[in-house]
Amino acid sequence: MNNFDFKNPTKIIFGKDTIEKLKEEIPANAKVLMLYGGGSIKKNGIYDQVKTALAKIDTVEFGGIPANPEYAVLMQALKVIKEENINYLLAVGGGSVIDGTKFLSAAAVYDGDTPWEILTKNIRTAKGMPFGTVLTLPATGSEMNSGAVITRAETKEKLAMGGPGLFPEFSILDPKVITSIPERQLVNGITDAFTHVLEQYMTYPVGALLQDRFAESILQTLIEVAPKVLKDPADYNAAANFMWSCTMALNGLIQKGVPTDWAIHAMGHELTALFGIDHARTLAVIAPSHYKFNFEDKKEKLAQYAERVWNISEGSIDDKAYAAIEKTEGFFKELGIDTKLSDYTKDYEGTAEKIAERFTNRGWLGLGEHQSLSPDKVEKIVKMAY
Ligand code: NZQ
Ligand code: ZN
Repeated sequence: MNNFDFKNPTKIIFGKDTIEKLKEEIPANAKVLMLYGGGSIKKNGIYDQVKTALAKIDTVEFGGIPANPEYAVLMQALKVIKEENINYLLAVGGGSVIDGTKFLSAAAVYDGDTPWEILTKNIRTAKGMPFGTVLTLPATGSEMNSGAVITRAETKEKLAMGGPGLFPEFSILDPKVITSIPERQLVNGITDAFTHVLEQYMTYPVGALLQDRFAESILQTLIEVAPKVLKDPADYNAAANFMWSCTMALNGLIQKGVPTDWAIHAMGHELTALFGIDHARTLAVIAPSHYKFNFEDKKEKLAQYAERVWNISEGSIDDKAYAAIEKTEGFFKELGIDTKLSDYTKDYEGTAEKIAERFTNRGWLGLGEHQSLSPDKVEKIVKMAY
C-alpha cells in the first residue's frame, strides 16, 4: 500500500426530510447566494423546502446554471457576489451547480488577472468563500470532494480545478429528491459513479486489500440497486443506497494508498466540450476502448474485478479480464447508455487527432497510473471508441 494523507472536512447530513436542517448549518449573520440550475427545483418542491429553511437568513438567488456549468454564466454570478457583498454560497443542485459554486468560491477570493486562470494555470485554492450544498442528483460525488469541472462555450473547453479549500462545509443528502429525476439523469448518475470507482481501482495491485474491497463493494451495490432505482425511484431504500454509493465513489476514501488512472475522464471531458455529450455517456464511450488498449497493464485488476464483482471464475487471467470489459460495456448498455462515439454524433472524424493535439498543447504528455499514456496513445483509444 502507498503512503497517504487523508482529510475530508465535509459534514454529511443524510436522510429523509433533512433539507430543513439547512438553517442549523449556515451562520446566522451570513449573506447567502443561493445557486441553482435550470429550474427543476421549482417543479419538484426542493426550492420551496430550501426557501422555508432559509426564511430567517438574508438570501439572494442566482438561477440558470446550465448542465456542464458555463463560465460566462458563472461570471454573472460572481458579479452578484461582489455587488451584494455575499459571504456564503449555497448550491442547490447536481454536480453542475455544485461545481459552479466551487468555482465561485475560488473566484471570489482570487486576486489574479482573470478567474479563468484558476482553470488554465491549475491554481489550487487553499481557502475559498465558505459554501454548503443541497444535493438533488446523485452522480458526481462533488458534494463531498474539493474538485470541480468548468465548461467554456467560447473556446469549447472543459477544464478541472480544485484545492483543499473547496470542500463543501456541509452537504444535505435527502434520497427523496430522486423521485423527480428523469431516467436519463438516473442512468447517467449510475454510470458516472461506477466509472469513478473504476478510475481509482482499475490500475495494478499494490496490496491495498481494504481499498480494493471498498471499491468492489461500491460497484456491487450500484449493480444491485440500479434496476430497483430505475423501476421505482420512490423505493427509498434503493434510492438511499444509490445516493450514498455515489458519494462514497468520489469522496477521496477509496483512492487513498492506491494508484489512480483518471484518463477516461480526461478524454471524456473533451467529448463533452466538443459535442455536448452528457458527462457519464462520454465515460461509457471511452472506458471499453481504454481497457482494451491498456489490457496488459490492467489485466490483473480486471481479472480480480471479473471474479469478485461479476462472479466470473472460469478461464485464464486474460479470459477473465476480457470478460470483465464485456460485462462492463454490457452493464452500460443495459442501462440504455450507448458506448460508441458514432452513436452520439456523425461528425466524429478527426476527433481523436484533435484531442491528442489539445493534450500535447496542454503538456499532458503522460496520463494514467504509469504517467505513460501519451497523446499518440490517446489518439488510438479515441479512434477505437468511434
Ligand atoms: O438544471 P436543472 O433544472 O436543475 O436540471 C438538472 C440538469 O438538467 C437535472 N436535475 C438535477 N437534479 C434533479 C434534476 N431534474 C429533476 N429532479 C432533480 N432532483 O439534471 C440535469 C443534469 O444535472 P447536472 O448537475 O449537470 O448533472 P451531474 O450531477 O451529472 O453533473 C455533471 C457535471 O459534473 C461534472 C461533470 O463533468 C459535469 O460538468 N463532474 C464533477 C465531478 C466532481 N466535481 O467531482 C466529477 C465528475 O467526474 C464530473 O466530471
Ligand atoms: Zn465523472
